[in-house]
Amino acid sequence: MSTKPSQAPDSPFSLASDAAAVIQKLSGVQRHDVALTLGSGWARAADLLGETVAEIPASDVPGFHASGIPGHTGTIRSIRLENGSHALVLGARTHFYEDKGVRAVVHSVRTAAACGAKVMVLTNGAGGIRESWKPGTPVLISDHLNLTASSPLEGATFIDLTDLYSQRLRDVARSIDPSLDEGVYVQFRGPHYETPAEVQMAKAMGGHIVGMSTALEAIAAREAGMEVLGLSLITNLAAGISPHPLSHQEVVDSGKAAEPVISALLAKIVLAL
Ligand code: HPA
Repeated sequence: MSTKPSQAPDSPFSLASDAAAVIQKLSGVQRHDVALTLGSGWARAADLLGETVAEIPASDVPGFHASGIPGHTGTIRSIRLENGSHALVLGARTHFYEDKGVRAVVHSVRTAAACGAKVMVLTNGAGGIRESWKPGTPVLISDHLNLTASSPLEGATFIDLTDLYSQRLRDVARSIDPSLDEGVYVQFRGPHYETPAEVQMAKAMGGHIVGMSTALEAIAAREAGMEVLGLSLITNLAAGISPHPLSHQEVVDSGKAAEPVISALLAKIVLAL
């Protein structure tokens, strides 16, 4: 009898099931309803969501690596929301540029799905192409351009990506903050920031936001049947749009400055999902 690739012991889905089993055991929570990946600037939202039931070092969970990136917490938290549902907060994102492979990049999303989550909230810090977006502006992701030349899907797995960033969830977010603008997120490989020419290319292709995460994760979330909400914090104007050179410190600093406001916003949105 043949084993389906998705059920093989060495498959990424089986590793995600192992991770979910550890999270269930350590948190005592059988099913998480919603999962959040908190990128630069968004980490404080976890404190505002509700009561922390468990905080688990990522390195204790199969397939996760402690994050070496400032602004990423490296823990997995189980939180009980005031409406009684459970959120899984993933503070340990693996970026494509870390060269650990695309399976590692989307492991947290697959683990969230294995924990039962039906909604995946993906947040990030990113560069803005629209000049009207001052650093500190949160923006909804309406669609993406995946410029990594990679996919988390293996084999002939044909997944529809129409409405990948759920219109329903964007409407929910706007019911909390009607001023939220939206744009197309462009995932570059990084870890270098883009050249001004690359930013102009992204703009000409229909992009509004540039970053180094999220698109691959969103694809994996859709494969797993989850609804996706994407939110970018504009930490800086993209290269060449800004008159100043970019620095990681600027990204971290503007994330910190915006954190209280966007974290409170995100906590309200998650309660309304
Ligand atoms: N480009 C790519 N990633 C980023 C940026 C940017 O300008 N700012 C924060 N993350």
